[in-house]
Amino acid sequence: MRVLVTGGAGFIGSNFVHQTLATRPDAEVTVLDALTYAGSRSSLEGADVRFVEGLVQDGALVDRLVGESDVVVHFAAESHNDNSLASPGPFVQTNVVGTYELLEAVRRHDVRYHHISTDEVYGDLELDVPDRFTEATPYNPSSPYSSTKGASDLLVRAWVRSFGVRATISNCSNNYGPRQHVEKFIPRQVTNLIDGVRPRLYGDGLNVRDWIHVDDHNSAVWAIIDRGRMGETYLIGADGEVDNKTVVAEILTLMGREPGDFDHVTDRPGHDRRYAIDWTRLRDELGWQPQYRDFRSGLAATIDWYRANEDWWRPQKSATEARYATAEQVL
Ligand SMILES: NC(=O)c1ccc[n+]([C@@H]2O[C@H](COP(=O)([O-])OP(=O)(O)OC[C@H]3O[C@@H](n4cnc5c(N)ncnc54)[C@H](O)[C@@H]3O)[C@@H](O)[C@H]2O)c1
Repeated sequence: MRVLVTGGAGFIGSNFVHQTLATRPDAEVTVLDALTYAGSRSSLEGADVRFVEGLVQDGALVDRLVGESDVVVHFAAESHNDNSLASPGPFVQTNVVGTYELLEAVRRHDVRYHHISTDEVYGDLELDVPDRFTEATPYNPSSPYSSTKGASDLLVRAWVRSFGVRATISNCSNNYGPRQHVEKFIPRQVTNLIDGVRPRLYGDGLNVRDWIHVDDHNSAVWAIIDRGRMGETYLIGADGEVDNKTVVAEILTLMGREPGDFDHVTDRPGHDRRYAIDWTRLRDELGWQPQYRDFRSGLAATIDWYRANEDWWRPQKSATEARYATAEQVL
């Protein structure tokens, strides 16, 4: 099976490539990645893949690579909410125009397509209610990031309906695990602590995220590619709801510090309150189950990874902190 992975040098895409090579001996993997600040060639160290550096908005390149593939798994995106507030343009280009080019190519070549998306397209939930997102929840995105992801999902649905493209969509909750850029919440806190910097939390820290280990996300993606119904959307989650304050307290404890050893900073505009995923369809229809049930031990393993792989994250760290410092002045 010839698999084209876009964004395969990013966090989830690179873990997907490693998992694919480890579990599917028949897979020949091509990675298309622009190596933006978020992509790292070293995330694919040891992976036997063909690597193509390029943009998903490059229609001619995408057409050629899709024509050489049996399945396309589209991870490439501008993925960071904070950056989307400071500079939304690249989000429209990559997330919307890039998806359009891929859809046109899979349509021309009749290639199977799987679209990776986020639960953030659904907006947020109240803190103290039992509601969770389902495949029927209406779209209600809050940020330029989530609105461009929502737009790309709608393009996929339209290309299925109008042109019979063979596609599925998954909307997943917050991922954690190795090789995540240090701009993101968990790696930022962990690497700050390694550097002796006290953690800082947006607002009251009671915002709830539904955490899933990246390997569970990726095994669910394969279940959908293998057994999903064409044209369907599947929500991916693992019952991992934890508020941000608790995540920071856990990190501090696991790193040998007092759990209350952090500060609060002014909240980010439009900061979603709570996300929670109902993944019944994935379980009942496709028989998928997560392997990482214990957030604390997954977190401990992730901290160990960042401790052992300073060479991987150190080059990103100072530029990331400089960006945060500028954004905090603007917001
Ligand atoms: N991180 C999460 O918790 C999470 C949760 C649900 C869904 N998702 C989705 O999963 C996908 C991957 O997220 P991630 O966290 O791995 O992101 P990431 O930012 O770590 O990686 C994105 C990758 O895409 C590449 N890229 C960016 N623009 C490109 C372009 N125009 N052309 C080609 N390559 C380009 C980057 O170089 C990078 O390697 C995204 O679609 C995101 O919306 C992420």
